[in-house]
Amino acid sequence: MAETISLPKHIAVIMDGNGRWAQKKGLPRFAGHKKGAEALALFLNEVQKLNIKYVTVFAFSSENWSRPKEEILALMNLLRQTLKENIIKADQNNIKYNFIGNLDKINKDILEQIRLLEEKTANKNGLFFNIALSYGGREEIIFATKKIAEKVKNNKLNINEISEDIFAQNLYNPGQPYPDLLIRTSGEKRISNFLLWQLAYTEMVFLDTLWPDFSAKDLDMAIIEFQKRERRFGSLKG
Ligand code: FPP
Repeated sequence: MAETISLPKHIAVIMDGNGRWAQKKGLPRFAGHKKGAEALALFLNEVQKLNIKYVTVFAFSSENWSRPKEEILALMNLLRQTLKENIIKADQNNIKYNFIGNLDKINKDILEQIRLLEEKTANKNGLFFNIALSYGGREEIIFATKKIAEKVKNNKLNINEISEDIFAQNLYNPGQPYPDLLIRTSGEKRISNFLLWQLAYTEMVFLDTLWPDFSAKDLDMAIIEFQKRERRFGSLKG
């Protein structure tokens, strides 16, 4: 078991390997995503047991739109179903849901469910759960840049006032601590355009486990690895 001292405050997750999990079992890719959604629910239970306050998961990237139509449709249907279940369960738990990404591309009926879930859970404060959907890190940086440029253009901000803090305040999801741990499953060792600004000093742990198989044991391993690393933030003191 990982020690409970120096637990990460914010865990970001790239839930990779759903397709390979399904392929290994001779199942359609969708079966991997479905099992992946179950693994995500288990993961959320575990982080709440540990009292970890912030989680951000990569559910669908801006690049994922180029996947075959049937797979996108299957993922969107899974999202519809997951949203419905979470709206029903919203009163029973203490999770605040927050979606980040270019949601203009998401179907209107799904977007309505997303907004409903966000509204229903707006006052919860147990776990701040961010779901990156139709999300790209570069796109987020452009989004912030445009917001800042607009403020400068309208004389609401002086160009000399632009700082890292100001920039951060204009990202999709301002006000939360940056992830201190990133977990990516399935053996891939890339960031893949996830949270480019926010991951600057994040400890990264890459596990071979395929996301649908992710268990409490994997979370424990990732946290133990996180705790072993001395975190210096580029200076001599942590
Ligand atoms: C990556 O595996 C995973 C995704 C593209 C989707 C992640 C989605 C879930 C875990 C389900 C919950 C999310 C929603 C939207 C309800 P991959 O398909 O890239 O796997 P592969 O690299 O093995 O092909």
